[in-house]
Amino acid sequence: MTPEEFRAQFPALRTSIWLDTPGAPPGASRVIDSLRRALDDWASGTFEWTEWDSAADHARADFARYTGIPATHIASQGSLAEAATTAVRCAPPGKTVVVSADEFRSVLFPALAHRSSTGAAVHAVTRRPGRSRTADLLAAIDDTTGLVLVSEVLTNDGELVDLQAICDLAHHHGALVFANLTQTLGVLVSDLSDHPADLIAAHGYKWMLCPRGATWLIADPDLKLLRPHAPSWKTAAEPQQYFGGSYTESETLTRCNASPAWLSWIGARTALNLLNRLDGDDCRQHVLNLAAAYTEQMASNGFRILNVGRRSHVVVASPPPRYRLDANALRSNGIRATITESGALRVGFHYFNSSADADAAAVAACAGLVPQS
Ligand SMILES: Cc1ncc(COP(=O)(O)O)c(C=O)c1O
Repeated sequence: MTPEEFRAQFPALRTSIWLDTPGAPPGASRVIDSLRRALDDWASGTFEWTEWDSAADHARADFARYTGIPATHIASQGSLAEAATTAVRCAPPGKTVVVSADEFRSVLFPALAHRSSTGAAVHAVTRRPGRSRTADLLAAIDDTTGLVLVSEVLTNDGELVDLQAICDLAHHHGALVFANLTQTLGVLVSDLSDHPADLIAAHGYKWMLCPRGATWLIADPDLKLLRPHAPSWKTAAEPQQYFGGSYTESETLTRCNASPAWLSWIGARTALNLLNRLDGDDCRQHVLNLAAAYTEQMASNGFRILNVGRRSHVVVASPPPRYRLDANALRSNGIRATITESGALRVGFHYFNSSADADAAAVAACAGLVPQS
């Protein structure tokens, strides 16, 4: 599928320049249609709940095909916070959990909660000015480390963390790595068959175009410390029964399943089907090229690019000194992007974006500069 064919899948892109996928993308027609059909069937009473209930299992098989991971190594959950909460329990007792102090809170807080409930040591690594997140994490990993929790891209700066370097060093010290790919899977990465991290998770509602509520956790089921955060009929071995009886846990990673929100998984199946039509390498190259061209324009217009590490498809730029950005200038030019709490402009490029989108955003950003009062 070309970028133009992909773009045609999104009705909202006829009227908006969408650079806010780090927050959420607009819905693809076919995903919306599958949800509408489900709602119509619900209203008319023609739905089969047992069919809806199998959607998460089918989506797990679709996700397995998309990523090249065996379905036995995948659990279906509802949020990244759940996946990180499940993963942090794998931290070997007596060892330290390492996480960036500026991590997304759905990664940071499970680590801090683990410390409160078990007394485990957590090293929340403070970023030093001018140093990349990768460099600071690498400096923090040593023989005392048991688990590193890290997002491949965070949208406070857009650094593409060097997961290979982090995994190499962590593994050298006998530590595990949990990688959050919520901001990269579906656009910068798709094939995970050779991925170096021990545990991987992604919430599919951003770059994977799913409804919120479809999250996957990947790990080898032989990791015995991986246990369900909420045991239920969905974490039990087959046949899953409803009432009473003893609990036999599934031997595959479905033992970490969450009880599924049906509609999320119905939409996720359609989204995966669409994503499967993209060529992973073309997609990666396309979005990195757009981000690089946009970065160059913004820097030459006096904006400060906050990322001091490897570049990704997400760019966060602060206005020149003594200026602020007027959000209305972006909106009135049809541009959907986020102005962060610190007043920086955050954009992210998906395969549906074009160089015209990047140019329009750079022009509107300059037009939106107003002197600080
Ligand atoms: C890096 C990252 N991870 C995860 C999430 C979503 O977390 P959760 O699924 O817990 O809502 C976000 C949302 O913005 C994010 O930016």
